[in-house]
Amino acid sequence: MAFDLDMIKTVYNGLGERVEAARLVVGRPLTLAEKILYAHLYAGTPTQGFERGVSYVDFAPDRVAMQDATAQMALLQFMQAGRDKTAVPSTVHCDHLIQARDGAAEDLAVANDENKEVYDFLASVSNKYGIGFWKPGAGIIHQVVLENYAFPGGMMIGTDSHTPNAGGLGMIAIGVGGADAVDVMAGMAWELKFPKLIGVKLTGKLNGWTSPKDVILKVAGILTVKGGTGAIVEYFGEGAENMSCTGKATICNMGAEIGATTSVFAYDESMATYLRGTERAEIADMANGVAQHLRPDDEVLADPAKYYDQLIEINLSELEPHVNGPFTPDAAWPISQFAAAVKEHNWPARLEVGLIGSCTNSSYEDITRAASVAEQAVTKGLTVNAEFTVTPGSELVRYTVQRDGLLDTFAQMGGVVLANACGPCIGQWARHTDDPKRKNSIITSFNRNFAKRNDGNPNTHAFVASPEIVTAFAIAGDLTFNPLTDTLTNKNGEQVKLDEPRGLEMPPQGYAVEDAGYQAPAENGMGVQVIVDPNSDRLELLEPFKPWEGTDLMGLRLLIKAQGKCTTDHISMAGPWLKYRGHLDNISNNMLIGAINAFNGEANKVRDFVTQGETYNAVPQVARNYKSMGIGTVVVGDENYGEGSSREHAAMEPRHLGVRAILVKSFARIHETNLKKQGMLALTFANKADYDLIEEGDTIDILGLTEFAPGKPLQIRLHHSDGDTDLITVNHTYNEGQIEWFKAGSALNLIRLQQST
Ligand code: F3S
Repeated sequence: MAFDLDMIKTVYNGLGERVEAARLVVGRPLTLAEKILYAHLYAGTPTQGFERGVSYVDFAPDRVAMQDATAQMALLQFMQAGRDKTAVPSTVHCDHLIQARDGAAEDLAVANDENKEVYDFLASVSNKYGIGFWKPGAGIIHQVVLENYAFPGGMMIGTDSHTPNAGGLGMIAIGVGGADAVDVMAGMAWELKFPKLIGVKLTGKLNGWTSPKDVILKVAGILTVKGGTGAIVEYFGEGAENMSCTGKATICNMGAEIGATTSVFAYDESMATYLRGTERAEIADMANGVAQHLRPDDEVLADPAKYYDQLIEINLSELEPHVNGPFTPDAAWPISQFAAAVKEHNWPARLEVGLIGSCTNSSYEDITRAASVAEQAVTKGLTVNAEFTVTPGSELVRYTVQRDGLLDTFAQMGGVVLANACGPCIGQWARHTDDPKRKNSIITSFNRNFAKRNDGNPNTHAFVASPEIVTAFAIAGDLTFNPLTDTLTNKNGEQVKLDEPRGLEMPPQGYAVEDAGYQAPAENGMGVQVIVDPNSDRLELLEPFKPWEGTDLMGLRLLIKAQGKCTTDHISMAGPWLKYRGHLDNISNNMLIGAINAFNGEANKVRDFVTQGETYNAVPQVARNYKSMGIGTVVVGDENYGEGSSREHAAMEPRHLGVRAILVKSFARIHETNLKKQGMLALTFANKADYDLIEEGDTIDILGLTEFAPGKPLQIRLHHSDGDTDLITVNHTYNEGQIEWFKAGSALNLIRLQQST
């Protein structure tokens, strides 16, 4: 058994009391998201209410899931915490590093070879620290989590943006960066701004060609890619109850496309059916016992406008299938208007590839509905006019749909089955094309369709739709075709119309699998060796950062005074550097190479006052030069420094290359916290105009550290090259605990110290 029944029992045992306490402190009925959030406070039973969109709150999630790309640095860091096991059940999923080229078996063999060192590391570290390991080919993180770990009323974090997929099983599941995963696995609190709440009331019933995917495509059109930012989207109403659990998961998965913190559905019969069908009847029985806490209070359902910050209503009986795109998932087109949009915008009407599956849409219901369309290509004598690929979300799904003959149906229409992995969805796609730059169209049942995402070609117009619509388009090979109204000419020259798709929510013979690809960790991992090839350029064990020396920091050098926007991408670029995300020293060669030097307006060109002649050099190189001389450095920045992603590398790299303080006009909050966790000084100018006092040749003293205390500003003395000095005041937001992180050298150092005492 992969899931942790005792943990779930503990959550359910305390649920009623915590929900009741939350209702009292908040002083009104609660929505579902509020119930789950208040039941997962790090401090235990709620004693105060929080303000949505304002209060920062410490939570204690039940689980952590990591995909193989983000897990590398997270686990390297976790190893620093000095724990025998992760504090909560955790899993690793090898899904992002498999490139789709020729088909499942061939592609998997190549990935196993090319990524051997990464997989060996992840497998061994998982084995040692009690982490469940899902091997390459086992499936895509979110589908595997839905099948094995998600449970109604639970809370989890995952190091991937589509973690909210588990909301289809009533879980608050949030996508985070690796640093957050480390916190939770190490037993620390996990902080989140208490989200706002968007209610979506679903009435009516899906029918014909319309599927759950169309609900989220419609919602994306309404809310746009930013409309869900800082909010949890909560779905309810008879339309929700009429929908399969896996359909709900599709909707929650794509909540990431509107920027939502997560999305969630209330516990209902469809979830119980799915839990029983995936061998988790005990969870369904337990959930039935606390069902009243796994849905919004009746008063909320009776008057939702009063309890949600925003309310949307969608009548499923009237909802049309949608096609969204190109280049953005919120460009929503009802199918009846799509052909006209294609013509009006001059998008390439000829469809080159249709791709179904992925973490978003590869349930049994999805596959049966798409197969019911695919088989008509054969039975109605139609020529298939586009390439067609199928990416199963997991081995459980793949084995089951193969057993039930559905993959044969796709093969008969010329479909190629790819590995159970992200593949084309994340750009791991060696697409067969005669011209990789040609303007062209593809359509997928995936979630994201930004330029270059799938095949790296900026001229690929990627559209998103349900698997059954994608299949119909692949047969037609023409984006101006409307399967609901139009006919196609078959091989006999007859006009034929595709029948509406038919699907099955659950496999009539049940799910089956021979080898799901799961590797349980050792009972006692003490003796397990973590495997890292010392010659690897992709992986490197971390050394703990040095603790604070106990004095003020004197004689630091200015490394760079960054001007204007400096996001985590400017600080730690993605793209080709992602390969090194498990190797801190190698990835540090991208440190701040995108930041603009305020003194010359150029990127990656700063003055090196250590080398003779005070030459200009690349930022990482200059930092290495200073570090080799034992000289610490300071990075100065502008407003909202570190905005963008929660990428922990953006804080670890400067720390690794000897930067002692980041001094800016203002910080993006997550980056500021990441800096604190790595034992850095994150400081802001008390007077923003002091930014102008910083000169290229300055040496810098940071004063007041021996009395470092919450709310007490520090001083910085600037020694200019002409002999003048300036004394400026700098602020910080460190609390007592964070000051201890600084003193210990990092948050993980402190945890390790605490473990050993
Ligand atoms: Fe993978 Fe695409 Fe999902 S990258 S996790 S299949 S969104």
